Amino acid sequence: MLPIEFKRFRRLRRSALLRDMVRETELNIKDLIYPLFATHGTGVKEEIASMPGVYHLSIDLLKREIEEISELGIPAVLLFGIPAVKDELSSEAYAENGIVQQAIRVVKEENPNLVVITDVCLCSYNPMGHCGVVHEGEILNDPSLELLAKTAVSHARAGADIVAPSDMMDGRVAAIRRSLDQENFTHVPVMSYSVKYASAFYGPFRDAAHSAPSFGDRKTYQMDPANVREALREAAADVEEGADFLMVKPALAYMDVIRRLKDTFDLPLVAYNVSAEYSMIKAAALNGWIDEKQIVLEMLTGMKRAGADLIITYHAKDVARWLGK
Ligand code: PBG
Repeated sequence: MLPIEFKRFRRLRRSALLRDMVRETELNIKDLIYPLFATHGTGVKEEIASMPGVYHLSIDLLKREIEEISELGIPAVLLFGIPAVKDELSSEAYAENGIVQQAIRVVKEENPNLVVITDVCLCSYNPMGHCGVVHEGEILNDPSLELLAKTAVSHARAGADIVAPSDMMDGRVAAIRRSLDQENFTHVPVMSYSVKYASAFYGPFRDAAHSAPSFGDRKTYQMDPANVREALREAAADVEEGADFLMVKPALAYMDVIRRLKDTFDLPLVAYNVSAEYSMIKAAALNGWIDEKQIVLEMLTGMKRAGADLIITYHAKDVARWLGK
C-alpha cells in the first residue's frame, strides 16, 4: 500500500492522441493577423534591420505577398504605411492617394476576401513622430480627433474592412464611429487598441515605421505598464464609445491584462504580439539558442490561453506554415 493518497494526472498524458483529446486551447491559422508595411516606389523590398524576415514592400510587390498570405490561409492583414512626406498636419495619413489608401486598393484587387485592417494613427505622418497634433511641445487631444476620424474614413473609402486606431487619444473611438456613420460606413467595425502601454517593446517597430518621437516620449497618452485597473476603465470607455474589438498591446508582458479584459468584457479580444517580442525570438533563434518553432507556438498558445481570440503577429506566416492549412 502507498503511504498517502494522491491523484494520477499522468493518466491523461500517456499518448499523443490522448493529450490531443484533453487539450484546452488550440492555436488556429484563422486566429492570425499579419502586419504589412507598405512603402512608395517600385520594386522595393527592404528588410527591417531589427526585424529579420519583415520587409518594407512597395505596392507592386504587395500583390505577390498577398497571394502568399492568402495561400497560407491567413484571414487578415494589418496595414501600415511609410509616407513620402511628413508634415505638421499628417496630411498623407488621410490623403486619397496616400500610401495606405493605395495599399488597401491593391490588396482588395488581389484578394477581395482577405480582411484588410488599417492602423489609424498619425505618428508616421508628421515630423514630430507623435500620435496626435503637436502644439508648442504638447500633444493635443481634441484637435487630433478630427484628423484621426478623417484618416479612418479615408481608409474605409479606399476599401478597408476594419479600422484600428492606435493613437491613444481620448474619445477617438467615438469620433471615428461618428464619422464613419455619417459617411455611410456603418458596416465598418472599429478595432480599438484599447489598452496600449507606453512600452519599450515597440522599439524595432519605430525603426520600421520611421515613427520614433522627435522629442519626449508617449507617456502622456499611452498607459503606464504598472496599471491594470486603469486598463479596465480604458476598455470600458471604448465599449461605450462603440468599439467592436478590444486590444491589449503588447502581449507577452501583459498576459494578466489580457485575462482581465477577457473576464470583464464580451467583445472579441485581440492581442498584439509586438515588434520586440518578435525580434527577441528571432535574435535568439539566429544564434541557435532556442527552438524557434516550439517557442513561437508555445508563446502564441499562451496568449490564447490568457484569453486572446485573435493575435496580431509578425510570426503569422511561419505559424501558418507550421500548423498547415
Ligand atoms: C503606431 C503604432 C505603434 C505600433 C503599432 N502602431 C508604435 C507606437 O505606438 O510607438 C507598435 C507595433 C509593434 O511594436 O509591433 N502608433
